[in-house]
Formats: sequence, C-alpha cells, structure tokens
Amino acid sequence: MNFEYFTPTKVVFGRGTEERTGELVKEQGCHKVLIHYGGGSAVRSGLIDKICGSLEASGISYVMLGGVVPNPRLSKVREGIRLCREEQVDFLLAVGGGSVIDSAKAIGYGLANEGDVWDFYDRKRTAAGCMPVGAVLTIAAAGSEMSDSSVITNEDGWIKRGYSSNYCRCRFAVMDPELTCTLPDYQTQSGCVDIMMHTMERYFNLSDNMELTDGISEALIRTVMKNAKLLKADAANYEARAEVMWASSLSHNGLTGCGTGGGDWASHQIEHELGGMFDVAHGAGLAAIWGSWARYVYREHPERFARFAVQIFGLEDNGDPNALALAGIEKMEEFYRSVGMPTSLKELGVESTDAQIREMAEKCSFFGKRTVGVMKKLDASDVEAIYRMARG
Ligand code: NZQ
Ligand code: ZN
Repeated sequence: MNFEYFTPTKVVFGRGTEERTGELVKEQGCHKVLIHYGGGSAVRSGLIDKICGSLEASGISYVMLGGVVPNPRLSKVREGIRLCREEQVDFLLAVGGGSVIDSAKAIGYGLANEGDVWDFYDRKRTAAGCMPVGAVLTIAAAGSEMSDSSVITNEDGWIKRGYSSNYCRCRFAVMDPELTCTLPDYQTQSGCVDIMMHTMERYFNLSDNMELTDGISEALIRTVMKNAKLLKADAANYEARAEVMWASSLSHNGLTGCGTGGGDWASHQIEHELGGMFDVAHGAGLAAIWGSWARYVYREHPERFARFAVQIFGLEDNGDPNALALAGIEKMEEFYRSVGMPTSLKELGVESTDAQIREMAEKCSFFGKRTVGVMKKLDASDVEAIYRMARG
C-alpha cells in the first residue's frame, strides 16, 4: 500500500533533558509561552519549577494554566484560548501526558482559526493551522508527543472526539524517562496497553502487510510487554522506563502503519465512548474491550491473528488459524491480567445499563452516520454486541 510518513517532531531524549526546554522554545523563535499542565503531579515533582527556570534562563516569558484532567475537557480548552489571546502567547508548552498535550493542541487550533474550535472535532470543518506546540512528557502512553491527533471531551453531552491533522504535531518532545517514575502502577500499565494498542490497531487489517513494518510492530509489542512486567516489579527501573517511553512515540508516529493502509482503530473508537461516559483511563478501557472486539472480528482474517499468536506469544503454528487466533487472544488477555489490567467492563469498574450501552453504540456510530473498523465494518448494532460481550 502507498503511504506517507511525516514526523517533524524533534525528540530530545534522556536524563535531565527537561533543563533544555527554554533553549528548545527559543529555537522556535517564540517569546511568550503558555505552560499547560494537569492536576498537579508536575507541580509536586518540582518539574514545573525546573521548566520555569529553564524558560527564564533563555529570556522567555510565560503564563500558566493547570487543571487539565484525564479525558481533557472542552471548557478548559476554551479557557486556554481566552487566556492566550489576552496574554499574546505564541507557543504552547504541554507539560504532562496525552491529556495535557491534546488540550494544548486544541488550544492551538482555537488560536489559529476563527470560530468555534469544537467544529473540528465535530467534523463540521477542517483546521487551516495550529499554533506551535511542544511537549515535556511525563507519562508514556498516548503517543500524542509525536502523533497528529488530539482527543477532547465536550461536557455538553459527554462526547469524546478526536481530530487529526499534521498542523498539530509537536515541534519538539522532551522525553526524560525518569520523570515517569512517579506514576502510579495503574497509570504505567494503562499506558503500556495504549502503546501496544496503537501498533495493534495498525497491525490488524485486511491488506498484505510489509514484512519490515510487521517486524518492527512485533518487536515493539514484545518489548513493551517485557518492560511492563519489569515495571510491575520495579517502578524505578530506568532502562524499562526508557524502552516504554520510546515505544510510546514510535507506536503512534506512523512508523508501525507504513504500508498497512491505515489500520483498524475500532477498539479505540469503542473505548472513546467509555472514556466519554465513564471517565476511565484510556489504556485500561482498551484492555477491557480488546478481547471482545478480537473475538467478534477474527474470522474476517484469522491468518492475521494466527501470525500475531505465533510472533508475539511463540505459539506453535499447528496449521489451524482459527484455533491459533483464539489462543493468541486468550494469551493477550492473560498478559493484561498479569499486569493488573482489566479484561471486561466489570473489571474496569464500569457497571453499565442496557440503555447506556445502546447510547455509547449510537454515539460511536455518529448516530448511524458511520461504521468503525476495517477488519470488519462495525455499525451501531455490532458495537453494541461488543460492549455486551465485554460486560463480563
Ligand atoms: O493530572 P496529573 O496530576 O498530572 O496526573 C496525571 C493523570 O491523572 C497522571 N500523571 C501523568 N504524569 C505523571 C502522573 N502522575 C504521576 N507522575 C507522573 N509523571 O497520570 C494521569 C493520566 O494522565 P493522562 O495525560 O490522561 O494520560 P495519557 O497520556 O494516557 O493520556 C490519555 C488521553 O490521551 C488520549 C486519550 O483518549 C486520553 O484522553 N489519547 C490521545 C492520543 C493522541 N493525541 O494521539 C491517542 C490515544 O489513543 C488516546 O486516545
Ligand atoms: Zn490510544
């Protein structure tokens, strides 16, 4: 399959690299920064103070806006747009994870375009630009530091939607694995699931994949699984933190999708409704529904799932792709459980009513206007069936 691969983000990786933030902003020719951050972990760890010091040393002024929550909200984005206009900010610095980076990207769209920023997420129109964004990453998970996406939740109706364009790709990403050592284990593991899923979404498709892309993808998934287990035992393992952090970027910057025709992405779309309605951690939500999605669709291309079982779990190829596919799905769920991740909605802590499941399925299908996935095109009734299978 033909493909485009565009990764304009400058990566600055390793211990102490956050000290270089000021220099990196200066390199962009910008003068006034919005330091955007979350609920306080970056303040408590002293990271925000370090960033301020680095900006001051480079002669760059700044304003701050914290309070971004996981599943970042549109109201905070609007607040950021207002503040940046008043303060004449020309660079958005996200200090945090996917939620903070996505919120900064949305602010960037709001500043660079006229009208209501939600229009882009609501598919009403496309953006013509985005104010420059940079990231100091504190959690390896979403891959937003190198991806073209931003995912925002509109509290009016609790609708969670993503918008993708190359305009929002970070100018730079500072990645110090040590910064992730303060993460609670649940967030570390949820992040590892999300990282693996960004590659698995691209891996499961109906096209004939490139051998090189498959090889990179399989190595990435195995590496994240191995290091997730190491981090379960020792949260301060720097090498494991580094492997996982680099995987988070490579898994979602397009590398593992070269030649795959774009990938499936149904699990993500199905999970986004869970995040919107129940405010769950994104990676944990993915773990809770992936097995049900896989069992629902594997018959469309059992050979692909069989290859996954052999390459990821070392299962013996017994010539029965359907049996191998199911064994591989079972193994993946065993892995999720081994690192404390849920494999059902119940384990995720979501007790959903029939009406809620129908509502999520309707929202996921944009009220009947789209299907999700390519392995099998799923309409609202398919998605509803998958939520039901995932209930546990
Ligand atoms: O808010 P604070 O106090 O910082 O706490 C955060 C938050 O509670 C905490 N945390 C982050 N770094 C920490 C830390 N706690 C201690 N020490 C640290 N070093 O972790 C919690 C989760 O943070 P969040 O940013 O929400 O995590 P993640 O990176 O998993 O981002 C999830 C969001 O990204 C979206 C998801 O849907 C979700 O909204 N995604 C974005 C994508 C993209 N833009 O390309 C792709 C993904 O598929 C995903 O959809
Ligand atoms: Zn994801």
